[in-house]
Amino acid sequence: VFIILTTAHDPLTVNVGFSILAGITTWSAIPALSEIFVKAGLKGMDLSKRTKHIIPESMGMVAGLIYLVTMFMFIPFPFMKWFTASNDGDLQELKLLTFPNLKLAELLSALLSIQSMVFLGFADDVLDIRWRFKMPLPAIASIPLLMVYWVHLGVTHIVVPIPLRPILGQLIDLGALYYVYMGMVAIFCTHSINIMAGINGVEVGQSLVIACSIAINDMIFLQSASSGAPAIETHLFSLYFILPFIGVSLGLMIHNWYPSKVFIGDTYCYFAGMTFAVVGILAHYSKTLLLFFIPQIFNFLLSAPQLFRLVPCPRHRVPRYNRHTNLMEPSRVVLDEEDDLEVEFSNTKQESKRAPSSVSLSSAGAAGASTQDTDEPHTESTNPPTATLLQSLRPLKNSNLKRSGWYCVKILEALGLTHVRYDSKTGKRPLEMTNLTILNLILLKAGPMSERNLTISVMVVQSCCSLVAFFIRHHLVAFVYDV
Ligand code: UD1
Ligand code: MG
Repeated sequence: VFIILTTAHDPLTVNVGFSILAGITTWSAIPALSEIFVKAGLKGMDLSKRTKHIIPESMGMVAGLIYLVTMFMFIPFPFMKWFTASNDGDLQELKLLTFPNLKLAELLSALLSIQSMVFLGFADDVLDIRWRFKMPLPAIASIPLLMVYWVHLGVTHIVVPIPLRPILGQLIDLGALYYVYMGMVAIFCTHSINIMAGINGVEVGQSLVIACSIAINDMIFLQSASSGAPAIETHLFSLYFILPFIGVSLGLMIHNWYPSKVFIGDTYCYFAGMTFAVVGILAHYSKTLLLFFIPQIFNFLLSAPQLFRLVPCPRHRVPRYNRHTNLMEPSRVVLDEEDDLEVEFSNTKQESKRAPSSVSLSSAGAAGASTQDTDEPHTESTNPPTATLLQSLRPLKNSNLKRSGWYCVKILEALGLTHVRYDSKTGKRPLEMTNLTILNLILLKAGPMSERNLTISVMVVQSCCSLVAFFIRHHLVAFVYDV
């Protein structure tokens, strides 16, 4: 790395050297800092293990900080030409006339946006910020970037696909709406990684696949572009941001891989999402970027009924760990209560043997309770029988599900995207359904599997989707755009 850094002349090679250094630093810093994080209360319980471990959380902070330091140190390199050009006349004048101020502004605003999200993610880890407050924050964090985009590129039109051109024309200028769209891209990229989470290595795993896809896409472009093409600069810019990200993520992944020694926290999810949004926006390929997010888009659409509370959304929707088989199973959410006292008692007994916390039927506020964590302390079984009896004698509502929620459940069930358990008396009232996430869906279709294999499955799905994305971007695109 030292040789690369001392002998390299072009910024990209320096960036590669810095990325390797950043990866090694992250890998070695994490064990050294773990105890400090735990002492500061930054710790979490590994939900899917036989014995409950408390391990340090928010380690994305270490990766994020090392990334930022690396990028700060890298700032002068793309502008080396202006440092060494002292022979060509008056340096001061040369700088004033030709220095690419906007390029520097792009770099700085991108780093400001990423830094803001690292900060927000850390705040979320510490304060557990409510969804309604944290939802729009990535769009606000992207304002510096959008401002520079407006000054520098200012492109707000989209090219209409060939089949639609007779109706809409060749270009549509979205004007201010284009900035709203880019703010939405920032919101989507950050939160979509955070909701595809909860098993060892899955957050970093998916981010690494996306980051490698972005890097490969940039390299394909740089290979094929004729020299002097304007997009070369933007794809190089994208690589400057993505390579150090891959470096720190690999360093983090070694400790976060199953069985995790550290959790990455919301800090990493937001940091990763914002880095992707930044390169997508500034390198002007947000559509290609979204192609690399196919699993996240699917997971978001699948999650929408829970995220928008059409059906209950528990605090954790991660798959359920079965301590007897050591395998992950789809977790379930309680939708409604069994209204038959007899059935309720027999179910509570059966479930307390099988899956302790998977039944909240005796609780009046049962809807929304997660049915994961089969080896969590069993709150229901510790209830005195009289309390359970009194609770069960409370008048039960006909259905806790809204009409729209009921339709959602039926449609998702018909599409095979969830498994629903109905009441034993009429067989019509939905009582439980599997949580609406891609992780639970994989388990539903492929059957129970180990936590490690589930993470590998997600990475395989993500990689296959990236292959599809490359195919669409580099082959099918010829049918809809002039390339
Ligand atoms: C999001 C998800 C939530 C999921 C959680 C897991 C939505 C709306 N929210 O919430 O369903 O349960 O992420 O990260 O979809 N953990 C593990 N093993 C891991 C990683 C995390 O057990 O490999 C647990 C730990 O207890 C850790 C906690 O998840 O402390 C972190 O959850 P947090 O990131 O705070 O949850 P959210 O992002 O709010
Ligand atoms: Mg999270």
